[in-house]
Amino acid sequence: MPSPMKTLHTRAELSANLDPCRSRGERIALVPTMGALHEGHLALVRLAKQRADHVVVSIFVNPTQFAPHEDFDRYPRTLESDTELLAKEGVDMIYAPSITEMYPDGVVQDVVPQGPPADGLESDARPHFFGGVATVVTRLFKHARPHIAVFGEKDWQQLQVIKTFVAPPLGVEIVPGPTVREPDGLALSSRNRYLSPEHRAAAPALHRVLSESAVLISRGAPIPAVMANARAEIEKAGFTVDYAEARHAETLAPVSDAHHGPLRLLVAARIGGTRLIDNAAVPSS
Ligand code: PAF
Repeated sequence: MPSPMKTLHTRAELSANLDPCRSRGERIALVPTMGALHEGHLALVRLAKQRADHVVVSIFVNPTQFAPHEDFDRYPRTLESDTELLAKEGVDMIYAPSITEMYPDGVVQDVVPQGPPADGLESDARPHFFGGVATVVTRLFKHARPHIAVFGEKDWQQLQVIKTFVAPPLGVEIVPGPTVREPDGLALSSRNRYLSPEHRAAAPALHRVLSESAVLISRGAPIPAVMANARAEIEKAGFTVDYAEARHAETLAPVSDAHHGPLRLLVAARIGGTRLIDNAAVPSS
């Protein structure tokens, strides 16, 4: 019979529970989250379960990836309902450290990725963001020492940054999890709960416009014209667009035509105070 799920709060407790698994040669998967779990996270957990003997889900709202004006204080904290969801998925351990456990020497960024794919896009809108993510994911990897870690494709640039800068020095294999969507196409996100009914109704425009643009580019339409039109369509739906760009899928370097692929279209846009991001692959022609 599988043992009941444990919720652990310290690095020492985590090691005490994982070291015996590691010495038996069993594989450990980490699914890093900030909680407020939804089906998108649970899909990552299921992927982790297929790929490892033990699954640890970390729940930590990381202060170093929020700027002072952002939603750190109001970010949803729902440990009780998250715990119920994860117990049903057969997760072995939740790791829910305190801020002092993660940042015993002060809340600072000490892993700051520089260069592609961290340049531009999210970094233009949120210059502090990848320093915070890389810092906390490095620490989570050091605490859990997983063989693999699963991250969602919705945060496409984050996934590339972690693959490029964070995972290699620590020897962790990164497994990407496909974006899970509502039936109308909106990508699941913990921040969707901030949307008013009116803004919720407008939000699927992001996925619709990106998908249509991806098809047009794959059929040879010029990228600058397609992306200018995409931006205009998203604005017409009521968003303020931070960026709507076609990039090389891995380096995230700007691209001038579809032959410079694989390509990914990425968007970040704000509606009624909520910032949403999404992305789409351009099918190869
Ligand atoms: O994607 C997230 O939820 C966060 O950025 C992560 C990777 C858990 C780091 O805090």
